[in-house]
Amino acid sequence: MIITHLPVFVREVNEILVPAGEGIYVDATVGLGGHSEELLKMIGQGGRVLGIDRDEEALKRTGEKLKDSRLILMKGNFSDINSLLHSQGINEADGVLFDLGVSMMQLRDLKRGFSFNSDERLDMRMDSSQPFSAWDVVNEYPEKGLIRILKEYGEEYLAPRIVRAIAASRQKKSIETCSELAGIIEGAVGRRGRIHPATKTFQALRIEVNKEMEELKKGLEASLSVLKKGGRLCVISYHSLEDRIVKNFIRDNAREGILKQLSKKPLVPGLEELRTNPSSRSAKLRGAERL
Ligand SMILES: C[S@@+](CC[C@H](N)C(=O)[O-])C[C@H]1O[C@@H](n2cnc3c(N)ncnc32)[C@H](O)[C@@H]1O
Repeated sequence: MIITHLPVFVREVNEILVPAGEGIYVDATVGLGGHSEELLKMIGQGGRVLGIDRDEEALKRTGEKLKDSRLILMKGNFSDINSLLHSQGINEADGVLFDLGVSMMQLRDLKRGFSFNSDERLDMRMDSSQPFSAWDVVNEYPEKGLIRILKEYGEEYLAPRIVRAIAASRQKKSIETCSELAGIIEGAVGRRGRIHPATKTFQALRIEVNKEMEELKKGLEASLSVLKKGGRLCVISYHSLEDRIVKNFIRDNAREGILKQLSKKPLVPGLEELRTNPSSRSAKLRGAERL
């Protein structure tokens, strides 16, 4: 089955980035190319879209879908945006877009080991060539470290109870699969309501495996050094930890006179977006202009 990803805030991203003419736009999280496709429609023949992703499979699928010589796809981390652009002989961009987190393709493909329904090995790597995976975090991290990431990245107040159960289980044998871990968590804290009790733990593990918070801080800093004066930054985040980093970054740089905040409050999905794309429900969009 081919799993697709519906891009969020397509119209709003275009309104912020105002893609046009010969402009150079960086889609720092190109994924399955939903936003890049729209950018390509707006720019002229001399314009370019540089699509970055650390997921080889996403790049392959986007390359096959959007056969367009104005789209340059690059494998890498967005924290390396400068060197990735320099490798193409480009120093400046008119706009940079970050659509953070994971794509539906990654989440729903059970082989990728992101989902608690998966009987595959605990994985969660966006970049499958990275040696460090969720298996290492679950089986090798000391209990204190595990509690810290569950609290910090999952805002999981039951972290100590969950980690005690993980520690007891891995003493007998290593925890291999996603469904095995989900079962241990359910056994420790029980199940109430529709949300699986492993949801927050899985979010925390994914953030840790992919060093998402560190990447975001470095990626935002790096975007400043490639944005032209008057160039636009546009960031879509999906949980409060990310949004806080983005909000503080824009506020601090606005105080320094480096960025102009485009709106005080983040944009949230409207009813139409929520209806057509329910997974957009936690999305927030913030924009800024390079001064
Ligand atoms: C929400 S999806 C983007 C979806 C995309 N806008 C679309 O329309 O298909 C996020 C993508 O960012 C990639 N990603 C996340 N963190 C990254 C990082 N630090 N460097 C490069 N790519 C990253 C993921 O692999 C994933 O493909």
